[in-house]
Amino acid sequence: MDRLSIALILTLAAASTSASEQTKCVLTGFWINELGSNMTINSVNSQGEFSGLYHTAVTATKNEIKISPLQGSQHHKNKPNQPTFGFTVNWSFSDSTTVFTGQCFVDEDGKEILRTTWLLRQEVDDLKDDWKATSIGSNVFTRFL
Ligand SMILES: *[C@@H]1O[C@H](CO)[C@@H](O)[C@H](O)[C@H]1NC(C)=O
Ligand SMILES: *[C@@H]1O[C@H](CO)[C@@H](O)[C@H](O)[C@H]1NC(C)=O
Repeated sequence: MDRLSIALILTLAAASTSASEQTKCVLTGFWINELGSNMTINSVNSQGEFSGLYHTAVTATKNEIKISPLQGSQHHKNKPNQPTFGFTVNWSFSDSTTVFTGQCFVDEDGKEILRTTWLLRQEVDDLKDDWKATSIGSNVFTRFL
């Protein structure tokens, strides 16, 4: 792990320990899912927009995995404590695009959890291959830091 990642993790750790007794699910932070993929979500602005970085543990391609940028927005008008959100991952090592949508929950133990569903669009060379170009799945993320 490089120095920048360590500094980032320490900063996020300091931020999350000060926020004990969660009743509100906050997207900002470092999240890990059941496959070992992880993502950093930066601060959410007043319009609900955010950016971040996605580090996938799995790929449908044979390319070397690289950390990829994500951009999204959250909705918090009606459910300010458990907002819905969506983001797009711009894969930097393939021509694919993934969109995630989900909701940020606080579970009964007070732990934040992201329940998400995704669509992955792989690039195909020909219109006749369009039928097989999209896949769907779901992921559960928990706060790592
Ligand atoms: C984040 O995910 C990548 C890909 O699975 C993995 O190599 C890396 O160790 C993970 N980072 C942490 C801090 O878990
Ligand atoms: C999307 O990824 C490409 C290739 O890595 C990069 O050139 C571009 O700046 C990225 N766009 C955004 C909005 O992150």
